[in-house]
Amino acid sequence: MITELSDFLNQPLSVGEKTIQKRLVLAPMTMVGNVAFRELVSNFGGYGLLFTEMCSAKRIPHENRYISPYFRWRDAERDRLVCQIFGADPKIMATAAQRIEEEGFFGIDINFGCSVFSICRQNCGAQILKNPDLAVRIVAGIREAVSIPLFVKYRTGWQDDSQVAVELAKGFEDAGADALTFHPRVAPDRRNRPAKWSYIGLVKHSVSIPVFGNGDVFDSQDCWKMIQTTGCDGVAIGRLAIARPWTFALWAGGFKATPTIYLESALKLAQLVAGHYDSAAALKRFKRFALYFSANFRFGHTLFSRIQNLENMTAVEDILYHFFAESPELVSRPNLNFFI
Ligand SMILES: Cc1cc2nc3c(=O)[nH]c(=O)nc-3n(C[C@H](O)[C@H](O)[C@H](O)COP(=O)(O)O)c2cc1C
Repeated sequence: MITELSDFLNQPLSVGEKTIQKRLVLAPMTMVGNVAFRELVSNFGGYGLLFTEMCSAKRIPHENRYISPYFRWRDAERDRLVCQIFGADPKIMATAAQRIEEEGFFGIDINFGCSVFSICRQNCGAQILKNPDLAVRIVAGIREAVSIPLFVKYRTGWQDDSQVAVELAKGFEDAGADALTFHPRVAPDRRNRPAKWSYIGLVKHSVSIPVFGNGDVFDSQDCWKMIQTTGCDGVAIGRLAIARPWTFALWAGGFKATPTIYLESALKLAQLVAGHYDSAAALKRFKRFALYFSANFRFGHTLFSRIQNLENMTAVEDILYHFFAESPELVSRPNLNFFI
């Protein structure tokens, strides 16, 4: 019997015709889950998969990976990288999926969870859950076009009804999805109420494909509790991974976080974003990271506001050294419940 989180996380898991070695994965996150951030996470290790930022299916066939801000990756991460796509047209989604397969990614993830206005306005993301037939046709169309693992990431839907989430799960499985990532919140809910983990259990027990639970895992106890109370096969973590990119390595075991890890990680990310992006794009991404990273400290808003006021990357190192010279007090559980 598995009695420890690290033992659970280190069990291999089959997804479609492939296998992952660890069950903790990086959730897709626009702007923050960029190639530089993923390199930082990769350096620590401990994860099963990394998910890209969401990419527009319409654009993917024409994207140049060396220019695109989102459809960009390092060859070294590709065999554990899942590309997330959004779109509303089954044909366009299938064509995008073919390119992703040709590029050698581990898998494809369909975004049926994003509820920001700019995405829903295009009838994409969570908006598609209002039309389950279309959602299922998109899954089936991609399934027909590719053989690599196909993930679906979705939310409870637009009403707080677990049965809707269960029916969607069954529909996705029947249409050929290999795994689900389920975030138990209704679409208009902007993370200001707790995720309803009991719905993850209902979804998990309604299908035979793996289900990754997602939402509000802010420490290792949360993670273990989600696994034990829902029976989910793995966990996707988002905001905590931004604040503490070594979380995967720590929870999988064998990694010790030293007190200097906060400063070292922030410095390393500054260097990585500057290496992967032009200076404006690097700064934008570092600022977004800083929002979550600052939540690690009792007076983190001082770090946050200094970084938000920057006009270029040159002063980032000075600001970081200055902030850490004062030995900032850490919080055990960062409060990541804000929405921008
Ligand atoms: C900054 C940010 C960007 C996000 N972008 C995406 C995205 O591109 N695609 C997606 O499916 N979910 C996106 N999400 C949602 C996360 O994948 C995840 O479902 C959510 O944060 C809940 O998990 P958590 O409580 O571990 O953070 C984003 C979340 C955050 C905080």
